[in-house]
Amino acid sequence: MSPRGLFIVLEGPEGSGKSTLATPLADRMRAAGAEPVLVREPGGTRAGEIARQAVLDPEHPVSPVAELFLYLAARAELVATVIRPALGAGRVVLSDRFSLSTEAYQMVGRGLPAETVLPANRAAAGGLRPDLTLILDVAPEVGRARQVAAGKPLDRLDAESLEFHRRVREFYRQVRDDGVRHLDATRPPDRLLQEAWEAVVALDEQRFAAARS
Ligand code: TMP
Repeated sequence: MSPRGLFIVLEGPEGSGKSTLATPLADRMRAAGAEPVLVREPGGTRAGEIARQAVLDPEHPVSPVAELFLYLAARAELVATVIRPALGAGRVVLSDRFSLSTEAYQMVGRGLPAETVLPANRAAAGGLRPDLTLILDVAPEVGRARQVAAGKPLDRLDAESLEFHRRVREFYRQVRDDGVRHLDATRPPDRLLQEAWEAVVALDEQRFAAARS
């Protein structure tokens, strides 16, 4: 029997180092014999990459509700064509962002009503919930400085006000749920990786046993 799939999500504000953490975390999974499927949101499918381009282009702003549905269209396609099949085959899926990002950015950041965002968000995820969500915490000023230092061109969401990004961060900090772990993203990268890895191993000791020692 193939092992059950595991769905692990990295979340957090801009410049919190999700993408930077994803690479060594995936390396550790590989060392443990579990080849992860890596995805990022929005994106990972043709429709998702088109939505990504449309929603993040600083030259062509879209209205808040259109923004919401572009993110959700990207997610619905990714879940249906990549994440669900991979989990069904017993794979580990590591996603850079998922539904919590929509609550943080569109509901709390933009101020769209919860009664609009939450049901649509659930529909896009097709009822899928992560087994583990690692939320990386960093102050918006520090995150922005990191992005600038890394030479990342600012997309339309990055370029939002400091107030917007403070709301996003505060939302993330308040999240308490099963399978959610908060990590301090200002820790040295090795410490952060170790904490993330321990949370992953705790999910399924048997699957990751090879890399424990
Ligand atoms: P990133 O690849 O730098 O994380 O860029 C994705 C941007 O899109 C980031 O600013 C967060 C934003 N975003 C939302 O506003 N809502 C969402 O549902 C998702 C997945 C991302």
